[in-house]
Amino acid sequence: MTILTTVRGSASPLFANQGALGCGDESLRICYFKPSRGIVLHEAMKRLCIQFDVLIDPCMGSGHILCYLFDVLIKVYEDYGYSARDAASSIVENNLWGLDIDERAAQLAYFAVMMTARKYDRRFFRRGIQPHVYAIPESNELNPDALAYFINGNPKLQEAMDTLITDLHDAKEYGSILNVTQVDIPALYARFDEIRNDVNLWRDAALNQLLPFVQCAQALAQKYHVVVTNPPYMGSSGMGPKLSAYVKKNYKDSKSDLFAVFMERCGEMITDDGYQAMITQHAWMFLSSFEKLRGKLLSHDLINMAHLGARAFDEIGGEVVQTTSFVLRKSSVEGYKGTYCRLIEPTSQQGKEDMFLAGENRYVADQSNFSKIPGSPVAYWVSDAVIKTFDSPQIMDYSSKVCKGVFTV
Ligand SMILES: C[S@@+](CC[C@H](N)C(=O)[O-])C[C@H]1O[C@@H](n2cnc3c(N)ncnc32)[C@H](O)[C@@H]1O
Repeated sequence: MTILTTVRGSASPLFANQGALGCGDESLRICYFKPSRGIVLHEAMKRLCIQFDVLIDPCMGSGHILCYLFDVLIKVYEDYGYSARDAASSIVENNLWGLDIDERAAQLAYFAVMMTARKYDRRFFRRGIQPHVYAIPESNELNPDALAYFINGNPKLQEAMDTLITDLHDAKEYGSILNVTQVDIPALYARFDEIRNDVNLWRDAALNQLLPFVQCAQALAQKYHVVVTNPPYMGSSGMGPKLSAYVKKNYKDSKSDLFAVFMERCGEMITDDGYQAMITQHAWMFLSSFEKLRGKLLSHDLINMAHLGARAFDEIGGEVVQTTSFVLRKSSVEGYKGTYCRLIEPTSQQGKEDMFLAGENRYVADQSNFSKIPGSPVAYWVSDAVIKTFDSPQIMDYSSKVCKGVFTV
């Protein structure tokens, strides 16, 4: 039991020591906790029910975050006595999940994960293990005959499939922001096993179309220990009518941009005490339109942040995209102090990385202080003296006396 806890504990804070998305071998080495000393590693450990974390990138693109996570997980498994070959199979089967709205992106991510597994296990392609990376399908396209054959008059299967079909209607409009109902997934997989050797005209359609549909529904419904992503950016004016209506109804506090919607959605995807690591625009930290979202997010612990500002990506010129990468944990520890790296001054990717690794411009801030400043900005660099001033009764008295002066009509 102790080992179980230790392993969960060791793999969870993948990003606890570092900025959300480190790069290079150095950060690989330091961005997870090693198991505590004194644990004897030997073959017998592998027979214990060791539970490693389950991770997802819900907007995986071509899967480069997944491949990075793969490399980190290999090191965690190796620390627990696994060979890289055994670890690779287990990671693909049990730990890594990815979703994208775009079919071509999902194909690239599939290829990238397979090749990463092949890097650690030369025989991986022959093992018949398929990565859990999926393009989000929509139920509108399902073949009704294959569906009837699959359900086979079983009311439990009927109920589960009806629920998923309702939830995933027009799913390509919404992608991973869809909150799918948990249904009896094991019962559905048992039926897929049953039909695998069946002789029926609709068997192939059921296995080729319904199985990925159910796998993707599972990916959207289940909870993860860690969600890591670089979500899409899309202002409300760029959203189509269906997406816009869905976001207004389900994500009221973040509706003005899809990246902010994903901040809320990633929080829904994690377990209690789970982690969400993201790189997003930094607008949510300051703008009044995100004040309610800030209130929601900061009810959980902001573990760390690399505040990147403009020019974090050399390929995106100018000041257009200002970003921040951060890790939130679904917990609320009283008086929690997060670590913040202010990297907005360097004007290149390399300059920011150098400053981060040199440990310069670091701040340790108690996030409960943010709400003492009007509008609750994530002002981690503000000194205690300034916070005290905002917190003083005189400021309250003064601000309550503000009123409208001379005006014209
Ligand atoms: C900025 S890219 C990030 C890709 C990847 N996470 C990375 O860092 O390389 C955003 C990805 O989100 C995908 N995407 C856009 N809208 C989506 C949605 N609603 N659900 C899931 N994926 C979406 C895009 O197809 C694109 O691949």
